[in-house]
Amino acid sequence: MIIELRATDKLRGPKALDVGPILAAVVQTARDGSLDLARLRVVCDWVQYKQNFRESIDLRTIVPSAFETARADRNGAGGTCASYELAIDLRRSGAIDVSAELTRALADPDRSAPSGRQYLEDWGPGAASCIWDFNALYWKALALWEQATGRGYEQALPGGESDARNLAAARELILKLFAIWDDLAARRALPEELHILELGVGNGNQARIWLDEFLRLDRELGKDYYRRLHYLMGDYSPHVLERARANVSHHAERLSCLTLDATRPSDTLGFLRYKAFLVYISNVYDNLPTDEVVRLGGHLFHVQVRAYLPGPAAERIGEGLGVPPDQVPGLVTRLLRLGPEVLAEALPERFSTLLAAVALWRDAWEALRLEERYLPLEELDAYEVAPGIGGEALLPILETEGDTRMHVSNGAVASFVDTLPLLHPLGVLLCHDLFVTDPHQYAGGFKGPGKYDGSVVNWVNGPLIQAIGGRRGFDVGFAPFAHRVGANVMTLTASVRE
Ligand SMILES: C[S@@+](CC[C@H](N)C(=O)[O-])C[C@H]1O[C@@H](n2cnc3c(N)ncnc32)[C@H](O)[C@@H]1O
Repeated sequence: MIIELRATDKLRGPKALDVGPILAAVVQTARDGSLDLARLRVVCDWVQYKQNFRESIDLRTIVPSAFETARADRNGAGGTCASYELAIDLRRSGAIDVSAELTRALADPDRSAPSGRQYLEDWGPGAASCIWDFNALYWKALALWEQATGRGYEQALPGGESDARNLAAARELILKLFAIWDDLAARRALPEELHILELGVGNGNQARIWLDEFLRLDRELGKDYYRRLHYLMGDYSPHVLERARANVSHHAERLSCLTLDATRPSDTLGFLRYKAFLVYISNVYDNLPTDEVVRLGGHLFHVQVRAYLPGPAAERIGEGLGVPPDQVPGLVTRLLRLGPEVLAEALPERFSTLLAAVALWRDAWEALRLEERYLPLEELDAYEVAPGIGGEALLPILETEGDTRMHVSNGAVASFVDTLPLLHPLGVLLCHDLFVTDPHQYAGGFKGPGKYDGSVVNWVNGPLIQAIGGRRGFDVGFAPFAHRVGANVMTLTASVRE
């Protein structure tokens, strides 16, 4: 049995977590159980997101490769060659009966007995899970969620507000742009229209602060660039876009709003090719769909997930709606497809008010968990990270770390690669987000998925983005966000290599 204790600050200092009793319980329970200990690995993480998709203790099947299965068949062992990973959340370990939970997790490794879990989907890669439908619904129907919770989305972001609204950061950026434009103007190479693009605009605070400051500096320095400015705001939620537009209505003449998918900006913004002097993206990459991959003993696996509602939660939700628990997934699926407003209209006998449909949404989201299993990833070149980017792009990063588990950041990679062609040769893509900047960080703590209110958060695989940008002739750098001390947020900049 291999026990992996992921390094976390919680294991250090005077208040360090005492993992002795947890590990003793693991060894004792595993010894008393029937699992082959040579086929069991244990991973202890500190899952820092209080709202997340895991139970305190989970068991994952490590599905054998075709080769291992054939060998087991030859040896007469039949289907018994699966291995297992026991995942323990150290943060919650103090609040549970560890031995009882371990016994529960190990009792039925192949889930042959009914567990009461109500599944919302079949097994699939993380990026295809219905958690992303919940995420999209959150942005689409944000006002309803915020009304029901009394909380604005920014309160859930790192530091309780978005770095997008930092005035000093906006000023620094604008002055850099002025310098580039002055230089181009002196060479008579400055285009008449000066394009700036923002993807994933939220409440529009970034746009407002940026445009207000732009206008102020433009007047103060007598530049006359504001008149030529074209600020494009792109988001996949019409509701969010409308809200952002209202927030910057005093700049309406300089503004265009576009409904688009940030993972495929070129579909809508083809006209912007080589024209954008700045593409600004904050707290969006960590909100785009992602798979995870695992390397164990030198073998690669794809993490597959299956969303479910735990039995007691499904019963509670069903009781409130007057349906048995096994009908709750169907209602949740309809909710995700129709949204709470249409669902309430379509099923007035179940939802007497719109608020009742919003309550189903919130209850299901809170209870939502992901079962995980590891599937062999035998042909990495057949795997696609993003359109046109094969799985072999992962190899250099996977190989630096030995055994590891990391995000593929499929949505972020797709967005990044499809945004680069929009940049003017002197343009810059600037992105504030939660980036892993060294593959080694994956060994040092949990990087998602977590829940931010109604949306999903995953740290973004910075080294992968850097390598992919590098191959396309872009310099990609990371720096801690300069205008707030102690933040996890990093700033990525990408510009054409000189
Ligand atoms: C966490 S908010 C960040 C908002 C703002 N940039 C900030 O920092 O406060 C994420 C934003 O990205 C948008 N978004 C998420 N996924 C998207 C996608 N696939 N395409 C376009 N917009 C997306 C959401 O609608 C939301 O406006």
